[in-house]
Amino acid sequence: MNSLDLNGKSGIVTGGASGIGFGITQRMLASGAKVAIWDRSVENMNRAEEELNAGDSIRTVQVELTDPSDVKKAADETNEAFGSIEFLVNCAGIAGTNAKVWELEPEQWTSVIDVNLNGVFFCCNAVVPHMLKNKYGRIVNIASIAGKEGNPTASHYSASKAGVIGLTKSLGKELAQEGVIVNTVTPAVIQTPILEQVEQYHIDYMLSKIPMGRFGEVNEAAAMVAWLCSDDCSFTTASVFDLSGGRATY
Ligand SMILES: NC(=O)c1ccc[n+]([C@@H]2O[C@H](COP(=O)([O-])OP(=O)(O)OC[C@H]3O[C@@H](n4cnc5c(N)ncnc54)[C@H](O)[C@@H]3O)[C@@H](O)[C@H]2O)c1
Repeated sequence: MNSLDLNGKSGIVTGGASGIGFGITQRMLASGAKVAIWDRSVENMNRAEEELNAGDSIRTVQVELTDPSDVKKAADETNEAFGSIEFLVNCAGIAGTNAKVWELEPEQWTSVIDVNLNGVFFCCNAVVPHMLKNKYGRIVNIASIAGKEGNPTASHYSASKAGVIGLTKSLGKELAQEGVIVNTVTPAVIQTPILEQVEQYHIDYMLSKIPMGRFGEVNEAAAMVAWLCSDDCSFTTASVFDLSGGRATY
């Protein structure tokens, strides 16, 4: 692992109790940062906190990301606890169940959009004002290759992630002269608990599309995100970073 200097930086990883978010949290801590995990699962956060064993460098905050008042409260609490917020990694997300557009119940559609897209908006909306006070920030939104390509039987998920790409491009431009850098990462399939929500045929489909012929790894996503949160990322904003083993060449 190459070292990155995140000493003196504090921030948030949503969904940090599991999967990719947990790996990102580990990597940020190893680089010297302080991290507040925002997640709705207290059980998973307690397990993550124990495993990370990072003392005062780690905080856990129970947040329901689809509730804007809950998110605002968490942002104010985290800013108060750390004194400032230098980074926000919007990683929490759900896959939803597999179905074709005409087979999806409206509630199945809305629940995925609520977490994956509205949740990212609520977090940016609540955290950016804290970053603007210090004219410094790094925001990384975890989208998906699905947002670029559109996976069959995952229209809700694909549309939510395409929305995150659009949100990132707009917000990055809005903040381009404010010291706050905003980028998005579009991973292909990585083996984490989220895959329990989808069918095996869907996992097989996603894997079959990857020219490298393998799953991505949590560490690979974490390394990219840590760099995007560092001072070394200084002239790249409103951009989309591919992490798909060659599936997307744009
Ligand atoms: N694993 C993959 O194949 C893959 C590929 C591309 C993109 N992604 C994206 O990466 C991100 C992380 O996925 P993962 O694979 O680590 O999944 P995961 O299921 O392991 O972790 C997701 C975390 O988000 C939390 N969460 C979900 N909804 C929430 C809500 N409403 N409020 C608060 N917390 C909530 C969960 O409790 C969980 O801890 C997601 O946005 C996902 O869409 C994953």
